Amino acid sequence: MPSIQKELKLPERPKGLPHPEYTTPRGVSPLHSVPAGGLQYPNYTPFKLPNLVEKPFRDRGLSSDPSKSRLLGAATSVIHLTPEIGTEIVGLQLTDLTDEQKDDLARLVAERGVVFFRDQEMDAHEQIAFGAYYGDLHIHQMAGIIPDLPWVHPIHKDGTAVNGRSHQIWHSDVSYELQPPGLTLLKMDTLPEAGPDGTLAGGDTIWASGYALYESLSPKLQEILETLEAKHSGLEQAEKALRTSGCLRRDPIETIHPVVRTHPVTGWKTLYVNENFTKEIVGLEKRIGDGILDSLYRTVAEGYEFQVRWKWSKNAVAIWDNRATYHTGIFDYFPHLRHGLRVAPQAERPYLDPKSKTRRAALSEDA
Ligand SMILES: [Fe+2]
Repeated sequence: MPSIQKELKLPERPKGLPHPEYTTPRGVSPLHSVPAGGLQYPNYTPFKLPNLVEKPFRDRGLSSDPSKSRLLGAATSVIHLTPEIGTEIVGLQLTDLTDEQKDDLARLVAERGVVFFRDQEMDAHEQIAFGAYYGDLHIHQMAGIIPDLPWVHPIHKDGTAVNGRSHQIWHSDVSYELQPPGLTLLKMDTLPEAGPDGTLAGGDTIWASGYALYESLSPKLQEILETLEAKHSGLEQAEKALRTSGCLRRDPIETIHPVVRTHPVTGWKTLYVNENFTKEIVGLEKRIGDGILDSLYRTVAEGYEFQVRWKWSKNAVAIWDNRATYHTGIFDYFPHLRHGLRVAPQAERPYLDPKSKTRRAALSEDA
């Protein structure tokens, strides 16, 4: 059961939310409570939000203990799932973490790319409060929402997802934003049925390490990539919204980000272009830039040694660093239902610190 008595600090609701008569009850998945309230789920009723503007951001990981001992020391076990990326923590409830442990978690996520917890007793309200500790929660420009909890992004596919495979592209979430999310939390509450015997399986998610991908490239190519910037675009997604649900909440934007960015906590360089949203390299002939981007996307997709594949269980949580990883959900479960809730605190505007290093170079200096 969620800790219903606990006082939760939720962000201030934006003005003009649809369906003000609806309230999500504590401890119940909105997957059930929203339709029970007679509303579409996820809800696509149009409403307008102000355009996002740049805001100061300080990563909570900068307040952590570099040994992360307050978090790791409290766990029953800490399991590194691959050498390059992914760690599972056993024996902790996220809702019980102290602020110091949350700061250590931010550093662990920044270092390991993605951190997993199973069997989390955390409802949507607690998830929002947890995410809001790390930064201003992102509200999606066009995805379906929960009417009273717009900071939660429902991950929801069922028998209506006939073109669901088109979403199966390696990406970093909403990289077209001025300050794309950093630490991002997804809790899965409904797993697909794998067959007539009632087994629940499928819809695994794979993450790839941007640090590992970047350091695998030749020094000469790294040198070139560090001089480049790329255009990330939300226009295609916005056009799709206008074509389908008619629900677009902000003016769609395109943003220029460095092709290689520095993580503010680890200080490591990571590759920052993705097939979903990066449309062109600035200042290069289109076919040359596209050639570079295509070969980088292929390296992301085929770099199995940089990846971790996570098998969900009911109420498992993944927390990833959206700045330093790529991910894709495997759509092998049509027409069955898979559902989870994501919250995404926005981070800093991407930058490249010319003095920063690859992960491997930084770690070998420390050794
Ligand atoms: Fe995603």
